[in-house]
Amino acid sequence: MKTVYKRVAVLPGDGIGPEVMKESLRVLDAAAAKSGLSLHYDEALIGGAALDATGLPLPEETVQLCLKSDAVLLGSVGGPKWDKLDPALRPERGGLLALRKRLGLYANLRPVRLYSCLAQTCPVRLAPGAGFDLLTVRELSSGAYFGEPRVLDAEHGLDTMAYDAVTVRRIAAVGFAAAARRGGRLTSVDKANVLASSMLWRTVVQAMAADWSGVSLEHMYVDNAAMQLILNPGHFDVIVTENLFGDILSDESAALAGSLGMLPSASLGGSVHLYEPAGGSAPDLAGKGVANPIAQILSAAMMLEYSFDMVDAARAIETAVEEALVAGFRTADIASGGPSVGTKEMADAIIARLEA
Ligand code: IPM
Ligand code: MG
Repeated sequence: MKTVYKRVAVLPGDGIGPEVMKESLRVLDAAAAKSGLSLHYDEALIGGAALDATGLPLPEETVQLCLKSDAVLLGSVGGPKWDKLDPALRPERGGLLALRKRLGLYANLRPVRLYSCLAQTCPVRLAPGAGFDLLTVRELSSGAYFGEPRVLDAEHGLDTMAYDAVTVRRIAAVGFAAAARRGGRLTSVDKANVLASSMLWRTVVQAMAADWSGVSLEHMYVDNAAMQLILNPGHFDVIVTENLFGDILSDESAALAGSLGMLPSASLGGSVHLYEPAGGSAPDLAGKGVANPIAQILSAAMMLEYSFDMVDAARAIETAVEEALVAGFRTADIASGGPSVGTKEMADAIIARLEA
């Protein structure tokens, strides 16, 4: 077997980030050992951890390390300790959003499915045997997250939601391509009955449909999409939507699958891609060794697939995760009140199946 060498920038961040990151690297190493992959990890600071150490949420050193790495694996950022800071300095805007921008990332893929062994953790009553397997393609570079002008004083808060056709076209292309690879169904989510940016979005996406004859496109208003996700999640294959709507709907999809701790993500677009769990830093769980590491582990699997083209190794991790769940291993968030294991035990169970 020929050895492939890759450098990964590891940014554990805040809250549960460091502890789930540690476990995901152990899983990665186990998968790499079996597939002739040699991974070198360089750790760097982001978010609150970076603020505490350097006074900045995204030190330039971190950006430079990311730019010269083959991929970036990120934990999570933010926590109550830094909530009172100037918004531009806070871990979320000053750290994570700034890094997404610097790396030119615009397509955030958030796949989620209901494992049949976790059917009872789904908070809604699905028909017997019904499940879902959906991918949210979230636009990551525009919308209200990056709107200008932005105003904040004691009496005013202003964010603008802006999209241009180029930005819509490039994310819609990711959505169409994902649907073509998967079940052939694309739902473009907008609020085109009210918002000008959504009217543009819908017109641009619709105009592309003719080039993707193998994909059936539907448009759905975001309020209806939020409802349909609850009523009939199996309806969806790929959802493509703008930044804020995607943030919200992807959390909803994760909750349907049992827990936010199950939702991985890949942020693509620039020359270096970034992989992070979508669930946040969960400050209430931090340091207790109880957080679910699966979102971080599946994010690492997405890195193997999308950045290193090691699809078999990625599938091996995903299979090991499912096997550990089938064997009954549950962190507290997916235990439905039953017995649970900690972060490390869950990773041990996954590694054991990976090495079997
Ligand atoms: C996510 C998170 C981030 C976002 C926060 C931490 C800035 O919620 O990745 O979904 O809103 O994009
Ligand atoms: Mg979010």
